[in-house]
Amino acid sequence: MKQQKLEILFDLKKFDIRLETEWLGRSFLYLDEIDSTNSFLMEKANADLNGTVVLAEKQTEGKGRLERQWYSSKAMNLTFSFLVTDRAVLNKSLIAINFALAVSVAETIETLFQIKTQVKWPNDVLVGGKKIAGILLESSSTGSSINRLVAGIGVNINQIHFQGTYNVPPTSVVNETGMEVEREKTLAEMLNHIEEIIAIAVKQPSIIFNRWRERCPFIGDKVLVARDGKELIGIFDDIDDQGNLLLRQDDEIIKIQYGDVSVLSL
Ligand code: BTN
Repeated sequence: MKQQKLEILFDLKKFDIRLETEWLGRSFLYLDEIDSTNSFLMEKANADLNGTVVLAEKQTEGKGRLERQWYSSKAMNLTFSFLVTDRAVLNKSLIAINFALAVSVAETIETLFQIKTQVKWPNDVLVGGKKIAGILLESSSTGSSINRLVAGIGVNINQIHFQGTYNVPPTSVVNETGMEVEREKTLAEMLNHIEEIIAIAVKQPSIIFNRWRERCPFIGDKVLVARDGKELIGIFDDIDDQGNLLLRQDDEIIKIQYGDVSVLSL
């Protein structure tokens, strides 16, 4: 497939008519270019309204997990972040919110485009083993209490070609469906779903962990976990309520807090 040259910028009106949220995205900042929408919301002292969404057509220093970069061509995809300052949410487990976001992004893509999605620990969204979306949570605290949470989400929508080296090979909605899709509707539906799922994560986090488990095909598989230059091999037993990956090696269970997981054939 040839990548189109034309940049079709985000149409705020099309987005607005589909947004059905109470608090998420009601304050909306649309930027042509920024270093990173996450950094913008983490650093901008005057952007502190709960639920503020920042969408950028282009990020010059898009951030991924584990200090990686997130590459996304201008005006092709969705690169956005939202701010949470609501104490009722921040006082609850951010781990459940992290998993809730992966589930909601996966469910939205599956429902809108009829493509089967999976989740991969800790919060990647895959289609057929390729990465279609990633999530990065950042927070700041005063003492022991978190006062600001920024959730950044990158979803590959209309980008066909991906240059560079990737830990997990990328894909996009257009590559999976053969059709370019409307980013405005996708973002509005995603935010509608995220607001609903955050409410569930706050009240009943166990529902979220179970929905995540159902969508993760790798539980029970032999996996390799790479972290800090070391590799651990074992069976992906489960996740715990702290979001750790539980890796079984013989009779021992090792809790993994961070790292990259790849599946090994049995
Ligand atoms: C990952 O899978 O490594 C996480 C990727 C998160 C990318 C998004 S794009 C919008 C937001 N701003 C950033 O700088 N990163 C996140």
